Parts: sequence; structure tokens; C-alpha cells
Amino acid sequence: MQYKQLNWSAALLALPFATAQTWGPVVGLGPTADGVTITSVVATIYPGAPPASQAGGLYSWIGIDNEDETGDLIQGIVGQYIAGESECQGTNRDTEWCISAEVYGLAVGSTEDYAQYVGTKLTLDATPAHGITFTYNLTDSTTKSWTQTARDAVTGTLLATFTKISDYDFVRINTAVECADCTAPISAQTWQNITIGLSGADAAFGKTIFQSNSATNTAPVTADKGKTWTIAKINVPVVTPIAD
Ligand SMILES: *[C@@H]1O[C@H](CO)[C@@H](O)[C@H](O)[C@H]1NC(C)=O
Ligand SMILES: *[C@@H]1O[C@H](CO)[C@@H](O)[C@H](O)[C@H]1NC(C)=O
Repeated sequence: MQYKQLNWSAALLALPFATAQTWGPVVGLGPTADGVTITSVVATIYPGAPPASQAGGLYSWIGIDNEDETGDLIQGIVGQYIAGESECQGTNRDTEWCISAEVYGLAVGSTEDYAQYVGTKLTLDATPAHGITFTYNLTDSTTKSWTQTARDAVTGTLLATFTKISDYDFVRINTAVECADCTAPISAQTWQNITIGLSGADAAFGKTIFQSNSATNTAPVTADKGKTWTIAKINVPVVTPIAD
């Protein structure tokens, strides 16, 4: 599983040894059937309250990736960072979730220099009870341009956005609660109304669903013979993050 790259300078200052990456509940699907790819995702997270303070990195995200996870991981992130190191600015940056639109992956044409790409618009979320709707969309299938947005699910206010060329066949999707030596989550989270658009029909896609570390979900359903899939709800309870 790929993941959000740490802010290494901050991590190295704080820690003499390598950071331990552990995981809360995960729900995922994939790969899609041969010749079928993911072309859009719309999903709303209700992230609950962040811990009062954060000793490491705590990131809830939904991501899409290629078959062997060597391409771009498109991931909109609800994150909390080491005190003083938040990607967001503002006086509440250590106590409110920071919403960002990110890609962990490669520059166009590169096969080895992985980097964490972060959109320039990032917003602290003072109203997490509203929910945050992430949209990932292949807006140009010729250039393979993907646009992500994150919006307040009640007001529609744009919280984060990023556009990147990602010339990969996206065939996997998963939610994650990623913990980098973190102060662990204190609130249960839900993902609601996850809508996954495919390039063609894959009637068996729903059967690929898997869960780990106590995550649960409603069954994936399709009203168009497998071209569009919806999962009404994913429950992410508060559990101790575990190693991969
Ligand atoms: C994705 O982008 C295309 C082209 O701009 C648009 O027609 C479509 O409605 C978008 N889909 C979603 C789910 O945003
Ligand atoms: C679920 O998401 C889809 C796609 O964004 C949208 O068309 C639909 O109205 C949503 N349904 C609910 C119950 O929110």
C-alpha cells in the first residue's frame, strides 16, 4: 500500500529512528475487470473530531491507484500533523483537520522519483460535522488529466483542489486511516455515498470489496449493470492502528 509521504525534516527532528507507519480500518475494492478502469469518484467523509493534539501524522483518505501500486495514488486527505508542521496555515492548524488534495506519485515521464504532490489550496476545517466531499475526475481522457476537489458537503465551499496528469490505469480504490507515529484517532468516522464511475461495465466489481481492522460497509450496489457503483456507508470505528 502506498501512502502519504512524511514531512521528513520534521520527522527526523522529532525522531531518532524511522517512523512507524500503521493503519486504522480500511475498506477497498479492486482490481476492476480487464479493460475497465476507474474514471471518477465522489465520496463524503464525516471525520469527527481530531485528537486535541497530534504527535505525528494522522491522515484519513480515499485513494485510487493502478494494479501494482506503482503509479499515482490520487488521495484527498483529511489530515492532522505534528504540532507546528501542518500543511495548512492558521491559528488552529494544530487542532483542526487540514483538508488537502494530493497525489503520491511520479512526475510525468519518470518511473522512480516518487513525490508527494500537494495542491496549492488547502483549508482548515472548522466544521467537520458538515462532512467533506471529495471528487476525483478524469476530465480529459486524451491527456489523462485528473482534477480533484474537496468541498464542504453542506455549503459546497471549495476546500482544496489539484489537477495533475496521471497516465495510469486506475483499477483499485480504498479508504485508509494512516498513522505515522500518530496520536491515535478519538472519533469514529464514516464515509457516505461513495460513487465510483468506471470506463465500462464490470458486473463483478462489487464482489472485490475487502475490509481490515474492524471496518464495515454496506454492500456495493449498481443500477446500471456495473458501470457505476455506490456504497452507501463505510463505518470506521476507533481502533488501534496496526502494521500492514
Ligand atoms: C467529470 O468531468 C467530465 C468532463 O469535464 C464531466 O462531464 C463529468 O460530469 C465529470 N464527472 C464528475 C463525477 O464530476
Ligand atoms: C450520492 O452521490 C451521487 C453522485 O455524486 C449523487 O448524484 C447523489 O445525489 C448522492 N445521493 C445522496 C443520497 O446523497
